[in-house]
Amino acid sequence: MNDPDLSGRVAYVTGAARGQGRSHCVRLARAGADIVAIDACAPVAEHNGYSPSTPEDLAETVRLVENEGRKALAREVDVRDAAGQQHMVAEAIEQFGRLDIVVANAGVLNWGRLWEISAQQWQEMLDVNLTGVFNTVKATVPAMIAADNGGSIITISSAAGVKAVPGCGHYCASKFGVVGLTNSLAVELGEFGIRVNSVHPYGTDTPMGNDVSMYQMFADHPRFIHSFSPGALSTESLAAPDLVSDIVVFLASDASSLITAAQVPADKGYLKI
Ligand SMILES: NC(=O)c1ccc[n+]([C@@H]2O[C@H](COP(=O)([O-])OP(=O)(O)OC[C@H]3O[C@@H](n4cnc5c(N)ncnc54)[C@H](O)[C@@H]3O)[C@@H](O)[C@H]2O)c1
Repeated sequence: MNDPDLSGRVAYVTGAARGQGRSHCVRLARAGADIVAIDACAPVAEHNGYSPSTPEDLAETVRLVENEGRKALAREVDVRDAAGQQHMVAEAIEQFGRLDIVVANAGVLNWGRLWEISAQQWQEMLDVNLTGVFNTVKATVPAMIAADNGGSIITISSAAGVKAVPGCGHYCASKFGVVGLTNSLAVELGEFGIRVNSVHPYGTDTPMGNDVSMYQMFADHPRFIHSFSPGALSTESLAAPDLVSDIVVFLASDASSLITAAQVPADKGYLKI
């Protein structure tokens, strides 16, 4: 199937340096959109068991977008930095004159039982995964309304934003929070022709998805493993980021014009098992 046509549109993607964010940038560019990309490109959460992205990762995303024949405006901005995101959007409007698509993708994952994690570990998770999305919304929505072209906002939650799992309750709380934010925003933005939907990936083949620190949690608490079934489809256990991008590109396009305030699974049926 050919990608829908997004030519003339501009997409703002957070967490764009690698993993799913990079894949979304490349696929949106392939469909014709110019890309505004931000990423912290640095350690963001003290308890993460996997390595942070780098400035070189973000530069590679820019190269891949330009390879698709599209423009890329990229900066090192942490989603917790509300002013930084406002500034980035202002720069994007100055350069491109419009903003049509937002993919609020930046996120972190780390492990610990709820009563054992520190207040700092809890707060860092909520600050990045939930307040970071709020900051993205606050920075981008006024520009989208002003451009008066409608648009599509896609938040990246998780299967753990629909079904709570043990060992990462703070992550689940942040991703359930993204769903509430998404659906309220969808109702508020309907009159402006802006749609808002959340995507819910399960295990995806990225540095986060390959985080081996979760194995210690399962070794310490073997019964927790029952909450993580392989899903209904007999495909690779970790999905290629490109397969999540199929859904993101669809939601960004007019092919999904009737869909708003929806929670779209990218989970191989895991949530029904
Ligand atoms: N990988 C999985 O198995 C999986 C499953 C479900 C949901 N998700 C969600 O998908 C999204 C993308 O994750 P991924 O798998 O590509 O992980 P990843 O770690 O490979 O990439 C995440 C990117 O976000 C950036 N980022 C993190 N915190 C940031 C911050 N405060 N400010 C700016 N950038 C920041 C990182 O630097 C990194 O480049 C996340 O929201 C994640 O929670 C991932």
